[in-house]
Amino acid sequence: MNRSAPDTHEPTLDYHDLALAAPKAERYAELRRRVAALVEHEDDWLANLANAAAEVFAWLPHLNWAGFYLMRDGELVLGPFQGRPACVRIRVGRGVCGTAAATRQTQVVPDVNAFPGHIACDVRSRSEIVVPVVVDDEVVAVLDLDSAELASFDDEDRAGLEALVAALAPHVDWARACAS
Ligand code: SME
Repeated sequence: MNRSAPDTHEPTLDYHDLALAAPKAERYAELRRRVAALVEHEDDWLANLANAAAEVFAWLPHLNWAGFYLMRDGELVLGPFQGRPACVRIRVGRGVCGTAAATRQTQVVPDVNAFPGHIACDVRSRSEIVVPVVVDDEVVAVLDLDSAELASFDDEDRAGLEALVAALAPHVDWARACAS
């Protein structure tokens, strides 16, 4: 266990203002740097996913929920997140999360009410993006972001979040994270 992690805690005030001031590509480049600083000296999967979810939630504007569902025994189980309590288990193929897991494709949903089978965990959610985490050709998790605004996410968000997930994945012990 590496306990030499630097103290990367910073006040979260003005996060959204800073993020909104930057074009989306730079906003996500900065988010990647922030998450990398949090996880690069730590190998505890729970700590790293928890801090990644917290950083995403703190940094990106308009979110009411951000977090991970972990693939455990063939279904998605709620993992580290920020936001209101959420549904715990989602079957592959169900809802936006289960669709991302089944198709291995990021789901960008501009209006959750227009997505057949959307699972409403937080009534405030209006739009959603779910990025599958694929490691060694297996879906190990999904990253789910909900927004209280319609059409919050576009192709730049998809690219930014897919790059974030790719950078984060090597810092997570997925065998442990996905053990039931
Ligand atoms: N809306 C998701 C369920 C998870 S919550 O949004 C946190 C879905 O349809 O899969």
